[in-house]
Amino acid sequence: MADIDVLLNENRSFPPPEPFARAAQVSTDAIYAMAQKDPDAYWAGAARNLEWIAPWKSVLDWTPPHAKWFTGGKINAAVNCVDRHVRGPARNKAAIIWEGEPGDRRTLTYWDLYREVCKFANVLRSLGVGKGDRVGIYLPMVPEAVVAMLACARIGAIHSVVFGGFSPESVRDRMNDAQAKVLITADGGYRRGQVVPLKRNADKALAEAPSVKHVIVVQRRPGGGGDEAFAEMREGRDHWYHRLMQNASPDAPPEPMDSEDVLFILYTSGTTGKPKGIVHTTGGYLTGTAETTRLVFDLRDDDVFWCTADVGWVTGHSYLVYGPLANGATCVMYEGAPDWPERDRFWDICERHGVTILYTAPTAIRAFMKWGESHPAKHDLSRLRLLGSVGEPINPEAWIWYHENIGGKRCPIVDTWWQTETGAIVISPLPGVTVTKPGSATRPLPGCSADLLDSAGNRVETGGGLLALTRPLPAMLRTIWGDDERYVKTYFSKWDGRKNLYFPGDGAKRDKDGYFWILGRVDDVLNVAGHRIGTMEVESALVEHPSVAEAAVVGKAHELKGQALAAFVTVRDGTRPTSELRDELKQFVVDKIGAIARPDDILFAADLPKTRSGKIMRRLLRDIAEGRALGDTTTLADPSVVAALKEQYEEKEG
Ligand code: WT7
Repeated sequence: MADIDVLLNENRSFPPPEPFARAAQVSTDAIYAMAQKDPDAYWAGAARNLEWIAPWKSVLDWTPPHAKWFTGGKINAAVNCVDRHVRGPARNKAAIIWEGEPGDRRTLTYWDLYREVCKFANVLRSLGVGKGDRVGIYLPMVPEAVVAMLACARIGAIHSVVFGGFSPESVRDRMNDAQAKVLITADGGYRRGQVVPLKRNADKALAEAPSVKHVIVVQRRPGGGGDEAFAEMREGRDHWYHRLMQNASPDAPPEPMDSEDVLFILYTSGTTGKPKGIVHTTGGYLTGTAETTRLVFDLRDDDVFWCTADVGWVTGHSYLVYGPLANGATCVMYEGAPDWPERDRFWDICERHGVTILYTAPTAIRAFMKWGESHPAKHDLSRLRLLGSVGEPINPEAWIWYHENIGGKRCPIVDTWWQTETGAIVISPLPGVTVTKPGSATRPLPGCSADLLDSAGNRVETGGGLLALTRPLPAMLRTIWGDDERYVKTYFSKWDGRKNLYFPGDGAKRDKDGYFWILGRVDDVLNVAGHRIGTMEVESALVEHPSVAEAAVVGKAHELKGQALAAFVTVRDGTRPTSELRDELKQFVVDKIGAIARPDDILFAADLPKTRSGKIMRRLLRDIAEGRALGDTTTLADPSVVAALKEQYEEKEG
């Protein structure tokens, strides 16, 4: 039996648009063959684009399942992201064009960023932070978040950014696991016109995180000295960021780091259990992120690059901070929500700042579809030349909508597959070369090797299977913080004894052209009457219906079939969810995929339960569909959503 059955076939394809291909940095596929012949030489070439303090002795030391890159080499990430550029013509180039949700704006040139990073490096040193110490960062999307990350990198401290939407408990657990010495937070951040009380959350968290001795508070809210009631400053422990910076020297020699010294820890929740501290090191991570930023986004000197991800996620680390800044790019950074004050905020930002490259997530694209094309249509988006997608499979319908309504049919789309663990993009088109197919991340990038296997470890030529990475990559995680055993068990134990095979946890199909189509987490695969159905394809079929905005499909126990499908559907604005529509949708799926995928239940929902990074929490939907008590809901963006759904589902059943 196949590990996952392939249900949908998408036949549209899009060659790189002629004008784009002609001007692209990479416009032939020779680079693939070159990299495949000698991947180490390829990555060494990429690493040579960085500035090293001392050269490496060997490119790759691989003792499966552990790998080290550029050992013996010395390097500093902040120097590569800032100092290099201020020595040349990019000195006065915008590094960060920032916009707060209320509309305030700041632009930091590379020179500004250099000064801020050096000063804050000295602030951290003055509080006793040194090489190898852990520093927590719990900030809104403000430039100080980037400054704090790079200042840590400058002095060799290990940063651990906690997404500003997380709860005090999440902050507490992460600080304790990392044994952080210092936490950097703010008196608040803006989201949908509300203030997120970060300092108050931090205070709650720190009541049970005794390793943190100092708290540095960025003043985000107006009030000259701050709204002390909101962010009560504790004597001896808490310090205002701006006060510390006043007297800090801008002269901060960088710490020469071993290539394999830890750059940061980033916690990822995984499906169950306690969050894993994903460990990334310096030389390889920077090589992987810098190289993929340059190639995948065809980065040019005059680009205005907007990665919409929060710095609390790996996408923000790799493609808002380290990758673009290592390339000397201009980045847009936006603090708030896409629908504040209106649903055209993103397009307003693109127009006003002349964004040329936009990198966002399918969940956002589906929200834009739901809101309708009138919002982007109000703005001049003609400077956009490349679009990117990341975070989950993009269903072909959303891909086409993005292509037409945002990209004006002239921008290639790079659908980039990767993970917190891989640190950098692994499977993606090269926009000047690859013929794209809506819904496919296409092929592994130069220097990357992926394969499709069945659970016994046999190669699946075409059809469905399990994704495997067959060679280490420079930006891959090195271990899980404090738990190497869990690292081995989670990622290298899928295929017995073959410790050279990394299992990302995703199902995929490979088509006759060798393209990969990611079908989602294998934990989400259903077994309906012996057919292994990935939820993504059924969801994708549902979303093709003009009335549907978003869909989540889960399995529920079924006497005869083993499992049956339950679909949770949100409709587009202006559509009425009726029982006729419900029947129509069931038939629609049958027509698209076949009777095997016919949902037993369709529940119309106002909203789907999602994590703050936009991933649908199918686990909770399964609890609802099977009438169980809800499991852990702490990582939900909006806990009221599931409660409402559960009530509605039970009413219908009753
Ligand atoms: C998981 C990793 C990559 C940074 C943001 C998410 C899914 C990611 C794609 C894509 C299909 C994708 C996978 C992967 N995913 N990108 N282009 N197509 N699926 O990082 O939270 O570590 O999640 O996201 O399932 O394993 P993450």
